Amino acid sequence: MVKLIIATIKPFKLEEVREALTEAGVRGMMVTEIKGFGSQSGHTEIYRGAEYAVNFVPKVKIEIVVADGMADQIVETITKTAQTGKIGDGKIFVLDVQQAVRVRTGETNEDAI
Ligand SMILES: Nc1ncnc2c1ncn2[C@@H]1O[C@H](COP(=O)(O)OP(=O)(O)OP(=O)(O)O)[C@@H](O)[C@H]1O
Ligand SMILES: [Mg+2]
Repeated sequence: MVKLIIATIKPFKLEEVREALTEAGVRGMMVTEIKGFGSQSGHTEIYRGAEYAVNFVPKVKIEIVVADGMADQIVETITKTAQTGKIGDGKIFVLDVQQAVRVRTGETNEDAI
């Protein structure tokens, strides 16, 4: 079985998180710049020293597909590395993946990642 980990983090934490994940054995990930809001919706959040009075705050979304035996460790690594203890540190979601395919070879699931 293969899991998809979706994490949103503070953008300045991306490089540190990427390094920690590489050390933890992650071989691939997708990264997207996004905007979103959580429980401070409609309130303010500090980003790069500026206070955002708007609803949407910039975040980086990381998507990682891993063998399910690795998922807990990856979640722990992201949590530890991305945590500042201030509001807006992000969210992590873990989903089951029905199928993964490596396009070059047709390999599937754990062999595809
Ligand atoms: N219920 C949700 N569904 C999907 N994405 C969410 C949800 N809540 C938060 N997010 C994501 O998390 C980001 C907000 O992160 P944030 O860390 O501020 O969440 P929070 O729930 O407000 O927690 P905190 O109290 O630490 O601020 C959004 O950009 C969005 O990507
Ligand atoms: Mg928030």
